[in-house]
Amino acid sequence: MCGIVGYVGNEQAAPLLLEGLSKLEYRGYDSAGVAVYDPSTGLSVHKAKGRLAVLDKMLDGGRSVPGRVGVGHTRWATHGAPSDVNSHPQISRSGRIAVVHNGIIENYAELKDFLQGQGVPFTSETDTEVVAQLVEYFCEHDGVDILEAVGRCLRRIEGAYALGILCADAPDQIIAVRKDSPLILGYGDGCSFLASDVTALIRHTRRVGYMDDGEVAVLTKDGIQCYNHLMQPVEKEISYVDWEIDAAEKGGYEHFMFKEIMEQPQAIRRAVGPRIRDGEVFFEDFALSDDYLRQVKKIYIVACGSSYHVGMVGKYNLERILRVPVEVALASEFRYMDPIVDGATLVIVISQSGETLDTMAALREAKRLGAKILSLVNVVGSSIARESDQVLYTWAGPEIAVATTKGYSTQLVVLDLFGLHMARVLGTIDAETCRAILEEMLRLPEKMEAVLENKDAIQYYASQYFNHNSVFFIGRNVDYAMGLEGSLKLKEISYIHSEAYASGELKHGTISLIEEGTLVVALGTYARLFDKAMSNIVEVKARGGDVLALTTEDHGQEMAKVANGVVTIPNTHPMLLPSLGVVPLQLFAYYVALMRGCDIDKPRNLAKSVTVE
Ligand code: G6P
Repeated sequence: MCGIVGYVGNEQAAPLLLEGLSKLEYRGYDSAGVAVYDPSTGLSVHKAKGRLAVLDKMLDGGRSVPGRVGVGHTRWATHGAPSDVNSHPQISRSGRIAVVHNGIIENYAELKDFLQGQGVPFTSETDTEVVAQLVEYFCEHDGVDILEAVGRCLRRIEGAYALGILCADAPDQIIAVRKDSPLILGYGDGCSFLASDVTALIRHTRRVGYMDDGEVAVLTKDGIQCYNHLMQPVEKEISYVDWEIDAAEKGGYEHFMFKEIMEQPQAIRRAVGPRIRDGEVFFEDFALSDDYLRQVKKIYIVACGSSYHVGMVGKYNLERILRVPVEVALASEFRYMDPIVDGATLVIVISQSGETLDTMAALREAKRLGAKILSLVNVVGSSIARESDQVLYTWAGPEIAVATTKGYSTQLVVLDLFGLHMARVLGTIDAETCRAILEEMLRLPEKMEAVLENKDAIQYYASQYFNHNSVFFIGRNVDYAMGLEGSLKLKEISYIHSEAYASGELKHGTISLIEEGTLVVALGTYARLFDKAMSNIVEVKARGGDVLALTTEDHGQEMAKVANGVVTIPNTHPMLLPSLGVVPLQLFAYYVALMRGCDIDKPRNLAKSVTVE
């Protein structure tokens, strides 16, 4: 939610800020703004409601705004509707302090009352304005410099925040603050950067520092000084980002989502290849010892959105091979449901971004209750990765489209790998079976390529059904779990009402919604339950529904006898069916959204990284 950038150096800041924001638009895109300081014009603030393109045009790509230091913001509104005045940067009464913010200041109302009582007028409805006004209040009332004023402000504000602060009285620096919202420092030659995510930096520097909670940083063109929450100087470890720059670009594709769908075979190769050795799973420096795994009595998988759907697949797969109970919980529910978690519970946290606030809060709650945390995360150095006992990176590379695809499919295989590793430790799977599944896993990318080659057939089906208003996905077992993801993909980018049901539940309600021409996507890849899938298709057809079915090559002909259309995927081990089966569902959602003229990479009201509760 919301993207922040900052630059101080010898170059013109505004074009760099706009370029950085263009990489962060996935985090929010209802308005954008920059604040830049130039000795001739002072601190100037420019902001506009709407996509970044509006601001970019207004500022002629940044060329109309002079200055070598500045901060920028792309917004996903929380407090105050999207509007020019509520856009960031928010400024103090005198206009000398500009603030960009990602997160929520929870006690803003009380602070606003206090400041208004002191005669400070407010212009916006945002919580962020409180920070700008409070910092100025401390500068003026207590007669302290900007850094000290920021320190005093931090002692008063509550909530989650990443802040970038620019002050006309100290225009050679940007002050950055982080608590529970991501913020990354970039170390350049003769310049320094600030960003919510490395994708906004890697064109300019690969040397980054991940800010810790409670830290404050002062960025100048000569370097960055960090302070802990007591404002004592701290040494920051510098990491090197080895992502390919192209990985965060569209590279000739019309949409990031399509590019990321097509990248899946390669992403799976990266995630799986190095983790298989001699027919066994191999995790380098794995901190969860065999003894620890042997005493685990229960596994909780906690996540949001598509990552939660990975957990749903995981429940079926893990319970089958481990014979250990697995519960899957929505992270937003977990901490409020008094979960039964203790030292014998392994909590697996799944998050592409590693920054989802609800997931982070669930992780902390689980830790507090004594559980160990294994996380599956894509973004290296993210908050969830850093607070886990053990992280398994999914190595999908940067994912930009709001609707996840390669993030999801890499999480699936990494979770399967962990399951197999633990099953070998527990002795619930023999070496032979494990080897066979791993070999099949290594064949997944090739099989996925075959599915992708069949995209024209899926495009054809999309053309048949893109104008439907309501769609149901049905399936049993792993097909049900996969349907949850297929349905989410479709609704989030095409805005078609869509629901996923366990097929057996059809007759308990949903079937009353089936009428002439209703589209039902029937998932029947799991051979053991194929006959049941067929029966459900027949039931839907008998009520006039149109059935688009998904099954494996073996069963394609059989299914074609009852369904209106059939898409097949190559045969594979049952555990791996969702890895292949999800691909046609992603493509279907993509093509439907394309045909409906939707903004595929930036669906309305959504954001990729959800850092508010
Ligand atoms: C947002 C994204 C989804 C994602 C979910 C969880 O809603 O749009 O694609 O699945 O957040 O995000 P995470 O980064 O924790 O996996």
